[in-house]
Amino acid sequence: MSDYAIIEGSGFDAPDAAGELIGTPWGAPSAPVRRKDLGGREFLWLPRHGDRHSIPPHAINYRANLHALREAGANTVVAINTVGVITDRVAPGEILLPHELIDYTWGRAQSYFDGSDGEVRHLEFDPPFSSRLRELLLEAAGRSGVGCVDGGVYAVTQGPRLETAAEIDRLERDGADVVGMTAMPEAALAAELELDYASLCLAVNPAAGRGGGSIHANVARYQAAARANAFRILAALPGGMG
Ligand code: HPA
Repeated sequence: MSDYAIIEGSGFDAPDAAGELIGTPWGAPSAPVRRKDLGGREFLWLPRHGDRHSIPPHAINYRANLHALREAGANTVVAINTVGVITDRVAPGEILLPHELIDYTWGRAQSYFDGSDGEVRHLEFDPPFSSRLRELLLEAAGRSGVGCVDGGVYAVTQGPRLETAAEIDRLERDGADVVGMTAMPEAALAAELELDYASLCLAVNPAAGRGGGSIHANVARYQAAARANAFRILAALPGGMG
């Protein structure tokens, strides 16, 4: 039984093992759940965009993904999310551990609490990320020597298109530091399943209208190194979450 699971979006590893395609009441997850060795510890690992990186953010079956990871034995989920940078809280190439989010997504299946069990249930979602897992990740970052910005507000947009400059200005007025497309409804679903969930945000580009040239070129420039640093943090997590 693995304690930790990773849901990853950025980068792409050719699958090196068959993994287990877990059926769920909510349909099929993005890919088989595989086991990944980091620093001598085994993690469950699921690529949220699928094995061929073919599922866009708004079409991901987030309910199936979280359910499958819990079925596979996860009680703790670290999400890796690539984001654009809005404020100077973080710079491209760095990693940020958000403490808050604002959800601008729409039309995604966003809850297990759909009334099918005859009950109306309202998730408490303050804070949206697990404080305990955030602490563990900050300590792991310290041990690994990888810089990690503590706290920030993640604006979750619908995608798959990138934002306009005016939309980014609005997100900044709302209080957002970074913008990405995948932390919701993932974080809320994890909370409904009582999984500890936190997000390591890979800051890979200045957001639209914030300079720095082509967003795609910046993603290509910064993503691989930031991802490798996220894995160094994960490898330094303590064993056993009990
Ligand atoms: N906007 C939205 N999502 C993103 C971005 C961005 O600038 N960069 C990486 N994911």
